[in-house]
Amino acid sequence: MAGMTISKLIQKKAAGEKITSLTAYDATFAKLFAQCGIDFMLVGDSLGNVVQGQTSTLPVTVEQIVYHTEAVRRGAPDAFVIADMPFMTCATPEQACLEAAKLMRAGANMVKLEGGEWLVDTIRMLVERSVPVCAHLGLMPQSVNVLGGYKVQGREQAMAENTVRQALAVQQAGAQMLVLECVPTELGELISSKLSIPVIGIGAGAKTDGQILVMHDMFGLNSDYIPKFVKNFLAETSDLTAAVQLYIQQVKDGSFPGPEHSFE
Ligand code: KIV
Ligand code: NA
Repeated sequence: MAGMTISKLIQKKAAGEKITSLTAYDATFAKLFAQCGIDFMLVGDSLGNVVQGQTSTLPVTVEQIVYHTEAVRRGAPDAFVIADMPFMTCATPEQACLEAAKLMRAGANMVKLEGGEWLVDTIRMLVERSVPVCAHLGLMPQSVNVLGGYKVQGREQAMAENTVRQALAVQQAGAQMLVLECVPTELGELISSKLSIPVIGIGAGAKTDGQILVMHDMFGLNSDYIPKFVKNFLAETSDLTAAVQLYIQQVKDGSFPGPEHSFE
């Protein structure tokens, strides 16, 4: 969407308008998504899985995110583009600043990092140095080896309360958006209501301020394991453009994700 900004996205939340987003990795799809009116795109480190064929996001480097961010930016000059900070690029706040600068120079409008309270100094330092930050809580794929698999997070009361606390902490530190992955619908709703910044869900139920999907999943391109929260929008439509339009429409009218795509 032409001229999308973080303040417009925050206004959308305040107005109760759902925010629509998809991952994008190349110019052609970025252009298509922009033409369909998607609110923002994420150059996710999921490119490790869907572009490189890796079994996790850990091998992805900042140079690779730079390459794909440049491609997305060329395809969608006016889009709001978020770029992922890959595994171990936030080991220290100073390092995070240097790595984030590469993504901003590549054309990103904001960077996304996985983690909560331990990252508040990093978030503060990035924001002070003019790098807008989107945090990422719930299931954090870069932590797959610690979590012991890709599982729903925050089912237990203590874990849910912990996630709420982390969400408030990243907002307090200056994060202007939050991605919430694979949590029960109730927790997605609670965190979205407690935060003033937009909360974008993936597998977090229909009550978040917006939704994101990996573009390949939205087109039904993943043949092996299909997560519960994924829907193939191409299956109901005739072409790629119609599939993206249907996704946007169903996010906006609240029909996606349905209970069958959510964790209760
Ligand atoms: O890398 C990615 O695609 C993501 C989304 C799943 C939010 O982080
Ligand atoms: Na990611």
